[in-house]
Formats: sequence, C-alpha cells, structure tokens
Amino acid sequence: MTGNITFTMIKPDAVEANNIGPILAMINKAGFNILAMKYMRLTKEQAGQFYAVHKERPFYGELTEYMSSGPIVAAILTKPNAVADYRQLIGATDPTKADEGTIRKVFAKSIAANAVHGSDSNENAQIESNFFFSELERF
Ligand code: RTP
Ligand code: MG
Repeated sequence: MTGNITFTMIKPDAVEANNIGPILAMINKAGFNILAMKYMRLTKEQAGQFYAVHKERPFYGELTEYMSSGPIVAAILTKPNAVADYRQLIGATDPTKADEGTIRKVFAKSIAANAVHGSDSNENAQIESNFFFSELERF
C-alpha cells in the first residue's frame, strides 16, 4: 500500500443515477487506488451507527433514512495525503458551494443527496474502513 487511506461511499442518489462508473473514473484519475470495495445496502440502524457522530443534529433522521434508501458502494481508497486530497476532490457538503470540477459539483442533487461520503480525519478513515471491511477484503 502506498500512502494512507480514506473511506468513501457512493451514496444512493449517485447509484440510482448510474453514476458509479463516472465517479470511480474521477477517483482513479485523481490518483487514488482502490484497496477494498463492496456494493451493498445499509439498514437504517447501520446508517445510524455509521453517522452516530451526527445523532443530535436535526438532519440525523433524514440522513439515516436516506442512506438506507438504496444500495451504496463502499470503498477504501489509498494515496499519499488521502483524507485531505479526497475531501478536495469531493467538494463542499452543499453542492451549490462546491468548486467546479468536484464530484459533488458534478453529481450531487442536494445537501442531503450529495453523491459521495469522504472521511474527515485519518482516525475516522480507520474507524469507517473497519466498520465495512475485514483484513481479508483489502488488497
Ligand atoms: P459526509 O460525512 O457524508 O462525507 O459529508 P460531510 O462530511 O461533507 O458533511 P457532514 O457534516 O459530515 O454531514 C454528513 C451528511 O449529512 C447530510 N447533511 N444534511 N440537511 C442538512 O442540512 C444536512 N447537513 C448535512 C449530508 O448528506 C452530509 O453529507
Ligand atoms: Mg462528514
């Protein structure tokens, strides 16, 4: 493995819109390698566990409902400076504030349905990767 890791999900809106391929192409083009990947659907409870840090926020119910509304692609990505570089590639949470050429600017539909997740720290990248993947699923 070269560099460090970040964790991403392609969210239900982007899967529904057939944008898995174009998003993965942008990820690879930006220099990230795929260390692990799976296509799956979260239960509302699993989505709640994943986003537990937002439990007290007003959008938590909507967020967990939405993240369990359809299949997602979960992946561990690797690259030097992976966490910060991936946050830059995905753009701001609110797609109307995302920079041109970012994944959310191109593919997100709204602040809730914003196409992708990206870890916000190295520590959370490890926690989130461990939530989804065993050692046997990493290459
Ligand atoms: P993510 O964790 O999914 O990568 O997104 P983020 O860091 O850019 O944003 P965060 O503050 O962690 O929020 C997590 C997700 O909650 C939804 N959200 N909805 N309705 C709202 O005001 C609102 N605010 C946040 C978004 O789907 C956001 O990605
Ligand atoms: Mg976040």
